[in-house]
Amino acid sequence: THQWRGIIEEYRDRLPVSDTTPVVTLREGGTPLVPAQVLSERTGCEVHLKVEGANPTGSFKDRGMTMAISKAKEEGAKAVICASTGNTSASAAAYAVRAGMVSAVLVPQGKIALGKMGQALVHGAKILQVDGNFDDCLTLARDLSDNYPVALVNSVNPVRIEGQKTAAFEIVDMLGDAPDIHVLPVGNAGNITAYWKGYTEYAADGVSKQTPRMWGFQASGSAPIVRGEVVKDPSTIATAIRIGNPASWQFALAAKDESGGFIDEVTDREILRAYRLLAAQEGVFVEPASAASVAGLLKAAEQGKVDPGQKIVCTVTGNGLKDPDWAVAGAPQPVTVPVDAATAAERLGLA
Ligand code: F0G
Repeated sequence: THQWRGIIEEYRDRLPVSDTTPVVTLREGGTPLVPAQVLSERTGCEVHLKVEGANPTGSFKDRGMTMAISKAKEEGAKAVICASTGNTSASAAAYAVRAGMVSAVLVPQGKIALGKMGQALVHGAKILQVDGNFDDCLTLARDLSDNYPVALVNSVNPVRIEGQKTAAFEIVDMLGDAPDIHVLPVGNAGNITAYWKGYTEYAADGVSKQTPRMWGFQASGSAPIVRGEVVKDPSTIATAIRIGNPASWQFALAAKDESGGFIDEVTDREILRAYRLLAAQEGVFVEPASAASVAGLLKAAEQGKVDPGQKIVCTVTGNGLKDPDWAVAGAPQPVTVPVDAATAAERLGLA
């Protein structure tokens, strides 16, 4: 029997690991590339969703974390630390358990989704809620790792980017070439950096013939790259990308420029519309931040920026169960019925 072995074993020759690196894995990666029927119809293109919520802890962060924790273990670290809007901390906490390490996580007070907090708690992370936003958490995490015996596993750690680039490899391996356009949500800008690295490496080695144009979308209230200036008090319902000063800002600009793409913004309204469309019409339940990629594609299509006939991949970065409040909010309360088929049939509109 064959099981996907996790991104380090599957792409070992393209990652900075050696025979002596202890591989800490939950068999992350190998996620579904799902044809999106409604989005394809709407855009006149062949649209696929890279469903990263199918990773072990429910987000793409696991790709980077298997690398970061394996390298930290190789270097003898006993403890790791990260700043997070929730998914990185959930992933760090889980992989630290596998490695027998202590994890410490810094999250913005009151601004992370319940499912993500639950993950960090149940995996036994030491959690501090910081009286500040994600950017403040990252400053604090860097400070602590500079001055105390704890390894930083945020995406400013370059091995995180190495792990995350494998998503681009999987897409090319599946489609036979890179898509024409790749669409991503952008927060701290590590992931767009990682995909671009993966695509350019494959193209340089002749594994793919082309590289895609990279399209990144920030939430309007948290769009420093679009505005060209730090956002001091970022806001958006998509808490995962509520970031005002992205660490990989310059790399994101490079990915955009070198690929001939762009970075734009989508409103919370557009994000929630795409979130509902994905769930109700594609059968794919993602967290709000993940829907920013699809919201962006739909916005670009409405602006006439999407020529028909192209191959497009949208990464949906995290599982909908992370933040179920948005699924329940505004939905009608299910009715209660007695154990009676006639009544149930009537309420279901079957009779
Ligand atoms: N989507 C989700 C679900 C995320 O959790 C993140 C980032 C992004 C998109 C943006 O990716 O930062 O590489 O541009 N979450 C980080 C965290 C910040 O702490 O979990 P990015």
